[in-house]
Amino acid sequence: MSWKVGAACALAVLVFGLADPFAKVSAPANAVSAAPPRAVWRAGFAKPAAIPFPEDNPYTPQKAELGRRLFFDPILSGDGSRACVSCHLPDRGWSDGRPRARSRQDSDLDLHTPTVLNLAWQEGRLGWDGKFRDLESVAFMPITAPGNMNLPVPEALRRIGADASYVQAFGRAFEDGTVTQGRVEAALATFQRLIVSGPSPFDRWIAGDEAAIPEPAKRGFDLFNGRANCAACHGGWSFSDGSFHDIGTGRDEDVGRGRFVPNSTALRYAFKTPGLRDVARRAPFMHDGSLASLEAVVDLYDRGGIARPSRSRDIRPLGLTAAERADLVAFLGTLTSDEPGGTALAEFGPAPPKP
Ligand code: HEC
Ligand code: HEC
Repeated sequence: MSWKVGAACALAVLVFGLADPFAKVSAPANAVSAAPPRAVWRAGFAKPAAIPFPEDNPYTPQKAELGRRLFFDPILSGDGSRACVSCHLPDRGWSDGRPRARSRQDSDLDLHTPTVLNLAWQEGRLGWDGKFRDLESVAFMPITAPGNMNLPVPEALRRIGADASYVQAFGRAFEDGTVTQGRVEAALATFQRLIVSGPSPFDRWIAGDEAAIPEPAKRGFDLFNGRANCAACHGGWSFSDGSFHDIGTGRDEDVGRGRFVPNSTALRYAFKTPGLRDVARRAPFMHDGSLASLEAVVDLYDRGGIARPSRSRDIRPLGLTAAERADLVAFLGTLTSDEPGGTALAEFGPAPPKP
């Protein structure tokens, strides 16, 4: 159902001629562009009725509960010092507040920790550069990476299999208590699909409460969908198209998705579009953590980032006024949910105590 709304909105965008929104700036005479179709835009951000789960890994409460336990359990790191939650912290929008993730040796890993909010709606590849096929396939990368959790697969399975309460939990979640890599992946992914951002002032506004967000934020919403063109990539309920773009960020040595598709100009320096829900909780921003604040992010888009052949055609200098930049930041702030963490924690309670 949500997809129909999304499709209707995409259609509306085409009908309203926003496919090249910059054209509107130079041709404002068009009758349709006189008033922003705010109502149409609003409809495109309504919350879907249900969390989608893949057919080959359907939701069960037993699998989700097992996945929750694994996500919080340092049993999955070689020296027992870290768990998934060490970097994906619920009250930091499931990121970690650092420019780049902390390695086991206390130095910086190559990339900033992305949020794991709302990944159930992510249909394409995961990771900043798309190195992961799907949510299931992510887990053993951090678990086995020597600079991260540093635990080889056989040792991980042996350890969990030696814990009687885990064997029971696997028995409840699957046909029997055998611990396999695929089952660990399935359980972790099921839990993570429940990590959904909770209601925010923006949602109340979408639902019709005009007083839920202030006027500057409403103007920011119009800019986001109109002249500033943000919704070209940050569209839909989770504010991500799940695709890869060069927006003009980054260091020369990291070509993002271009590493896997070396012959594509467009994918050089292309990174995955992050969702924007709870974005104000998880500074700093971008794949390299290079931007410290939302103001800095909006300034980058206003300048148009680094102009180079790979830069997306949806990115160009915007020429926003200081007031317009502030409106955009005010709008982004309305996406902060009332409770940090989202629905997964509410459903399953606090983390189990550390062993
Ligand atoms: C040292 C901090 C750290 C730990 C511990 C960690 N992650 Fe991550 N996580 C990251 C970083 C950095 C990335 C980005 C990796 C990339 O793009 O290549 C990431 C990416 C992800 C993604 C992809 C998100 C997206 O939007 O594409 C998922 C899912 C994820 N991690 C889940 C987990 C799970 C499950 C665990 C535990 C088994 C875990 N992480 C442990 C830092 C961490
Ligand atoms: C061409 C597609 C595209 C457009 C247009 C676009 N973005 Fe982005 N956005 C991205 C991508 C891709 C990233 C990640 C880039 C990176 O990591 O280097 C990103 C990152 C962000 C982030 C950081 C999120 C995080 O978790 O680190 C924010 C905030 C953001 N964009 C807001 C905006 C706003 C506001 C606009 C309009 C002024 C906009 N975006 C326009 C694709 C786009």
